[in-house]
Amino acid sequence: MRKKITIIGAGNVGATTAHWAAAKNLGDVVLLDVVEGVPQGKSLDLWECGPVEGFHFKVTGSNDYRDSANSDVVIIAAGIARKPGMSRDDLLAINVSIVKGCAEEAVKHSPDCMLIVVTNPIDAMVHTAFKATGHPRHKVIGMAGVLDSARYRTFLAEAIGVAPKDVTALVMGIHGDNMLPLVRLANVAGVPVTDLLSAEQIAAIVERTQKGGIEIVNHLKTGSAFYMPGLAAVEMAEAVLTDSKRVLPCAAYLEGEFGIHGYFLGVPVVLGKGGVERILEFELTPEEKTALALSVTAVQKQMEATGL
Ligand code: NAI
Ligand code: 2OP
Repeated sequence: MRKKITIIGAGNVGATTAHWAAAKNLGDVVLLDVVEGVPQGKSLDLWECGPVEGFHFKVTGSNDYRDSANSDVVIIAAGIARKPGMSRDDLLAINVSIVKGCAEEAVKHSPDCMLIVVTNPIDAMVHTAFKATGHPRHKVIGMAGVLDSARYRTFLAEAIGVAPKDVTALVMGIHGDNMLPLVRLANVAGVPVTDLLSAEQIAAIVERTQKGGIEIVNHLKTGSAFYMPGLAAVEMAEAVLTDSKRVLPCAAYLEGEFGIHGYFLGVPVVLGKGGVERILEFELTPEEKTALALSVTAVQKQMEATGL
C-alpha cells in the first residue's frame, strides 16, 4: 500500500522536508501552502529528481487540503520563522492561529494521520494542534529533540574526533534555552563522554547545543535552520510509516511521565505504526529534575500566552 505524506508550509523547512522524504522513497508527497504557485513549482522541480535520484513516488504541490486527503503522516511547518534578535516565543502570537487552522484542516481530511508539528515555539504549537483537533494523544508529536540531539552529537563527535553516527546522546525538555542535553547518558559506542572530554569541554558543548538555533539564525540573518529540521521530521515520519519502533526524542503529551502533567515536552519516545507507542521513562538525578522543571515553567508560560 502506497504511503502518503503531506507537508503543510512550503518554505525552507517544508520544502526541505519534502526533499528528504522523496529522497528516502517514503511515499507520495503533497506539499501545501497558502501562497499560490510556490508549492506547485517546488514540487514539480522535486518530482523531476526521481529518475536521477531513483525515487518512484509522486510529489504534488497544492493550495487545497482536499489534495491532502487520507495522508498517513501530516507535517506542519507553516508559519513565520525567527530572524536575528527574535526568540522562538516571539513567533507565538502569529503561529498559534496558523497552526490551529492547519491542524484542523489536516485532521478533517486525514482523520487517522500522524500529526508532526514543526512550527515554533514547538512545545506550545504541538499543544495547540492537539487541543484544536482533539486528535488522540499518541497521534500528535512535536519535532525538536531529534534536531537538538543531532546538534549535540555533532559537537561531541567533533571534540572527541569520532564519527558522529557513533555518538549517542539525548536532549530532553523544551526546545529553547532551557533544553536539557543529558551529559550522564551521552556516550561513544558505550564509552561515557565524561571519560573522553573535560568538564569544561562538555559544558561548552552543552551551551552551544542550547544555543544551536540562534547560532544558525545569526549566520543566515533572513531565517532559521532547515536542512536538519527537515531531516528530523522525516526521521520521525519514517519511524511511523515503517513501524520501526525507533526511539527518538519527541515532544509528546505527558500525563505523569517524568512527574509532568498536561504539557508537551521532549522525552524519549518509541515510534511505530501506532504513533507514540511508549514513552521511555527513567529516573532522573536531582540536578536533571531541577533542569527539567525549568522547561516546564517555560512551556507553562508559552501556553498561557496562547490563550488556549
Ligand atoms: P518559511 O518562512 O521559509 O516558510 C513558512 C511557510 O509557511 C511559507 O511558505 C508560508 O507561505 C507558509 N504559511 C504561512 N501560513 C500558512 C498557512 N496558514 N497555511 C499553509 N502555509 C502557510 O519558514 P521556515 O524556515 O520553513 O520555518 C517554518 C516554521 O518552522 C517556523 O515557525 C520555524 O520557527 C519552525 N522551525 C522549527 C524547528 C523545530 O526544531 N521545531 C526548526 C526549524 C524551524
Ligand atoms: C532551530 O533550533 C529554528 O528552532 C529552530 O534551528
